[in-house]
Amino acid sequence: MLLSRLFPRRSLRSKLILHYGVILAIGGLVTSVVGSYIVTSALEAQVRKAVDKRFVTTRTVYEEYLRHLHLSVELAASGTTIPDYLARKDTAALLKYLSRIRREGGFDFLTLTNREGRVVLRTSRPEVSGDDVSTIPLLASALDGRSLASTEIVSLSFLGEEDPRLAEQARMKVMPTPRAKPTAKTELDSGMVMLAATPVLDPGGRTLGVLYGGVLLNQNFTIVDRVWELLFRGEQLNGEEVGAVTIFQDDVRISTNVRNAAGDRALGTLLAAEVYDTVVGVGQPWLGRSFVVKDWFISRYEPIRDSSGKAIGALFVGILERSYAATRDRVVISFMAIATIGFFLIIAITYYEIHQITKPIAQMVEATRNIAAGRFDQEVEVAPGDQGEIALLAESFNLMLKSLRTMKADLEEWGRTLEQKVRERTDELVAMQARVSQSERLASLGMLAAGVAHEINNPLGGILALTSLTLEDMKPDDPNRENLEEVVHQTQRCRDIVKGLLEFSRQSRMGADLVDINKVLDDTLALITRQAAFFNVSIVKAYDPELPAVMANKSELQQVFMNILVNAAQAIENHGRITIRTRTSSDHEAVEIEISDTGHGIPPEHIGRIFDPFFSTKPSGQGTGLGLSIAYGIITSHRGTINVDSEVGKGTTFTIRLPIATGSAQVSEE
Ligand SMILES: Nc1ncnc2c1ncn2[C@@H]1O[C@H](COP(=O)(O)OP(=O)(O)OP(=O)(O)O)[C@@H](O)[C@H]1O
Ligand SMILES: [Mg+2]
Repeated sequence: MLLSRLFPRRSLRSKLILHYGVILAIGGLVTSVVGSYIVTSALEAQVRKAVDKRFVTTRTVYEEYLRHLHLSVELAASGTTIPDYLARKDTAALLKYLSRIRREGGFDFLTLTNREGRVVLRTSRPEVSGDDVSTIPLLASALDGRSLASTEIVSLSFLGEEDPRLAEQARMKVMPTPRAKPTAKTELDSGMVMLAATPVLDPGGRTLGVLYGGVLLNQNFTIVDRVWELLFRGEQLNGEEVGAVTIFQDDVRISTNVRNAAGDRALGTLLAAEVYDTVVGVGQPWLGRSFVVKDWFISRYEPIRDSSGKAIGALFVGILERSYAATRDRVVISFMAIATIGFFLIIAITYYEIHQITKPIAQMVEATRNIAAGRFDQEVEVAPGDQGEIALLAESFNLMLKSLRTMKADLEEWGRTLEQKVRERTDELVAMQARVSQSERLASLGMLAAGVAHEINNPLGGILALTSLTLEDMKPDDPNRENLEEVVHQTQRCRDIVKGLLEFSRQSRMGADLVDINKVLDDTLALITRQAAFFNVSIVKAYDPELPAVMANKSELQQVFMNILVNAAQAIENHGRITIRTRTSSDHEAVEIEISDTGHGIPPEHIGRIFDPFFSTKPSGQGTGLGLSIAYGIITSHRGTINVDSEVGKGTTFTIRLPIATGSAQVSEE
């Protein structure tokens, strides 16, 4: 599109409005021009029609006037009045009779001739008679027996014969006029008359003469004023007459209501050249604009013909063009104004509509910018119920935004948890490392203990056997007996310790069976709960009834549980609780035994050492510190693990993991 190419950086909204604006402007312009043209031509046609109508009236008035003259002469000549007076040669009576006719008929002159065409009686000038008027074609026709009336051009001498004043009236000055045909005439040398003539017959039907009468049209305003009264009275534009009526003799205005610049009747002014050529020259009517004296008129001209049919002048009716031009201009201006207002109104509505339509697009553009800047919190407004393409686009855009938001949130969350996970893993690794180094340490300790125990075991056996034999042989009252008995007792204690060391360091197990851990726990509890340490302790059992069997040495496990339980009971100073929980591990590969107490807990600086042989916090004589190291040895030899978790003041939890027995061996019932 051209506009898109011209304004590549404009927004969609401005482009659309520009498009509509251009289309509307072109449409409005075309409509205005065409509309104005139609209105103007309709108005012009209307005015022309009005001119035509008025012309018909004008012509009718003109013709009626002529007919009236004709009828008047015919009436006067009819009957026997004139022949009688002639027969009696009663000139006085004839003059009286004809003078009355002349007066009543409004004739300028009324004259009777003999059959040769010589004047018998002139009502206007009775003293002048005998002159020949048969040279006037119309009168010649009347002498031939025809009664007729028409407009004729007559010489000034003819008029002078009839009445010298008429000749003077006809002798009009010719005025130079704009747009007229150039002329050399300065004065009219003839007059235009309405002439009616009729033969006077004797009772036998023979022509006695002709009665003719006429009215001079030059400077005679009867017809134009009558027409103006009928058609244009009261029609004015800014004090100027709108209607104009004129009678032309040839191209000279001889009777008119058109005024010149001075405000007088524009007599003697001339017809516009092109009108003259058409109307008088060719004898055709003229319709349309014409320049009359000083203004343009919407006009109609028709030729005035004499009895021979020759165009000798013109009759004109016109309406001042300015009067209609004012209306036309008003209409055109109103039209343009309405078109302009309409244009701006439509542009405003279009602007609003386009704004509504493109709003989501603008918002989407804005939102994409925000997305690029990392902000996802924007939503595109969608009118409820709108199913249009843009609304659907906006909806999917919003959906996309939403999933982008969740994705972003997930990413951020992932970043956060990643740190957490790394921390946890690191902690685990550290703990594992500690465990590994501990088990390595314990393993070397075990090897050392086994070596020592092995070396000590045999001499101890010897000492014990020899002292026991010596004791048997000794008399009951021997003063050394007590000392020897103490030797045996201490040696037995040494043997137990060595046994414990051997237990801790032993890597392979003797005799293993499928055992039910829950049952081993119950058996252990039955053995120890009668001890004083357990009097204040409540035992909570949370066994998994579905716990799989474990391949193990039952009495060794009993030894492990016993030691942990006794430790727990000893850690509880007043009242407390021991909870025993069994379950299958989450990876289904091991059985987990969890023994927690609500005792005093283990301080962090001790926790790494509790599995060491001889580590004990108990007063000497009460604990050897071998319990947990033996337990460790037993669990490790079962391919299991033992872990501790403790918080000072809250309690301690030992967790033992033993691998689940594979195969279908039965749990030993002992
Ligand atoms: N449940 C527990 N609560 C608090 N401390 C404990 C617990 N179990 C063990 N300990 C600590 O670990 C030390 C080592 O325990 P271990 O069973 O190996 O030795 P002992 O109980 O001191 O002596 P022995 O078991 O040989 O009579 C204990 O002295 C005690 O300080
Ligand atoms: Mg112990």
